[in-house]
Formats: sequence, structure tokens, C-alpha cells
Amino acid sequence: MLILEVLDINTFYGKSHILQDVSLKVNKGQIVALLGRNGAGKTTTMRSIMGLTPPKRGVIRFRGQEIQRKKPFEIAHKGIGFVPEDRGIFPDISVLDNLTIAAKDSADGEKRWTLEKIYHYFPVLKRLRDNKGQNLSGGEQQMLTIARTLMTNPDLLLLDEPCEGLAPQIVNQVLFGLIKGLKEKEGVTILLAEQNARFCLGLADWCYVLDKGSIQFDASATDISQNQEVQSKYLSL
Ligand SMILES: Nc1ncnc2c1ncn2[C@@H]1O[C@H](COP(=O)(O)OP(=O)(O)OP(=O)(O)O)[C@@H](O)[C@H]1O
Ligand SMILES: [Mg+2]
Repeated sequence: MLILEVLDINTFYGKSHILQDVSLKVNKGQIVALLGRNGAGKTTTMRSIMGLTPPKRGVIRFRGQEIQRKKPFEIAHKGIGFVPEDRGIFPDISVLDNLTIAAKDSADGEKRWTLEKIYHYFPVLKRLRDNKGQNLSGGEQQMLTIARTLMTNPDLLLLDEPCEGLAPQIVNQVLFGLIKGLKEKEGVTILLAEQNARFCLGLADWCYVLDKGSIQFDASATDISQNQEVQSKYLSL
């Protein structure tokens, strides 16, 4: 079932035309990856979906409703949870408070995520629950940002470069298993923007390759894993 549909969006920063007719689809329960190098337009696509940098042209449908003219808080309220690149946790309050402040029911009034369930998937946050946000390592902060967004019970999770700045060990031994578990055990639907294509190819059902603000290619992760040309041209693999 289609949950998110982006149709030919064009997004600008001032006069710079960044996204050119970007289209993509996410089905419920899937992980869809948005791959591309530095400056390809991944964050701009996420910000366009969230209404933070709305597209000038094009249509974005979430659960069948057009959202491209909605405000960011309305889009969040409809069930899209955004985990931005810069994380933005509250530094002066505890991990527990960061989590409970965020908590809200889903758009359908469901409470799928409780603190107990969060602590099951993020044991490190249970251990650090009384620590202030600012005392967490980069990896721990990334866990907290994802967990905090899950506390809003989103129907779709937008993850912008979760691997960025993290030690390869954390990426491969913690983050990978976490995202896989969220999909396989909880049915979380994720749009995942990453430069780290190798990480995504092991997780995604479908991949879009973005370069210079346009989708250049889309295929299953298996197909992209076998496509040397696309890998060397767009993915630095
Ligand atoms: N606030 C801004 N004002 C003007 N141009 C911007 C702004 N933010 C991004 N850009 C430009 O838009 C283009 C796409 O940037 P974007 O941040 O979407 O790329 P990205 O794929 O997320 O890259 P990264 O992997 O570095 O996060 C780049 O050319 C960038 O320089
Ligand atoms: Mg980015």
C-alpha cells in the first residue's frame, strides 16, 4: 500500500533551483533509500516533504492526501516523523525528559511506542536515562533522536544521514541492526537518506539515486549492488 508519493517536485533555495522533477514512492512497511553524494539534494528532498522548504511545483501525497502546501507542524501531526541530520536533541534535560516531551499519539490515536518498548530497542537509553542530552556521545545522541521521533508514533519515519559522524563500528554493529529490527519486528516505514550506500543496500527494499537534484536511477537494492556503473558514477562505491 502506497503511503508516500512525491510527484515531480521542484524546490528552490532563493533563486537556486535545487530539486528538478523529483518523484519517488514509499509503500507501507518498506525501507526506501535515497542515495547520493554530498550536495545531491537528499536533505532538500526531506525538507520538501516536511514542508520546511516547500516545493514550488509538484505534488506530495501522504496517505492519499496532498500535503505540499501544509505547514511542518501539520505534516508532523499527520504522521511523518523527521530525524534531521543535525539531530537537535535538548542538551540541558535528561534522556528520559527528551523522550517524554516528544511523546504523542499517532495520527489515528494509537500509542504503539511506550518507554518500555523504546528501552527494549535502545538499551543504551535506559542505562543513560538520567544523563543530560549534552553528555551523550554522537552515537548515543543519534539513538536518542531516532527514539524521540518514534515516541511521536509516526506512520513514516524520515531518517536523514543517520550514519554521518558515527564510528563505523557503531554504524555496523548498532545502527544497522536497530533499523532492520524496526522494520522487521515493528513494521516501521522508513525513507532513509544516506551517502553511505553500502549501509543502505543491506537494508532497503528500493533505492533512488539522486545527483544534482534529479533522480538518476531507481532499482532494488539487489540490482544496485550488482550495477558497477551506477555505483562508481553516483555512489562512490
Ligand atoms: N540553505 C541553503 N541555501 C542555498 N543552497 C543550499 C542550502 N542548503 C543546501 N543548498 C544547496 O542545495 C544543494 C543540495 O543540498 P542538500 O543539502 O539537499 O544535499 P545532500 O544530498 O543532503 O548533501 P549532504 O550529503 O552533504 O547532506 C547543494 O548544492 C547545496 O549547496
Ligand atoms: Mg544532507
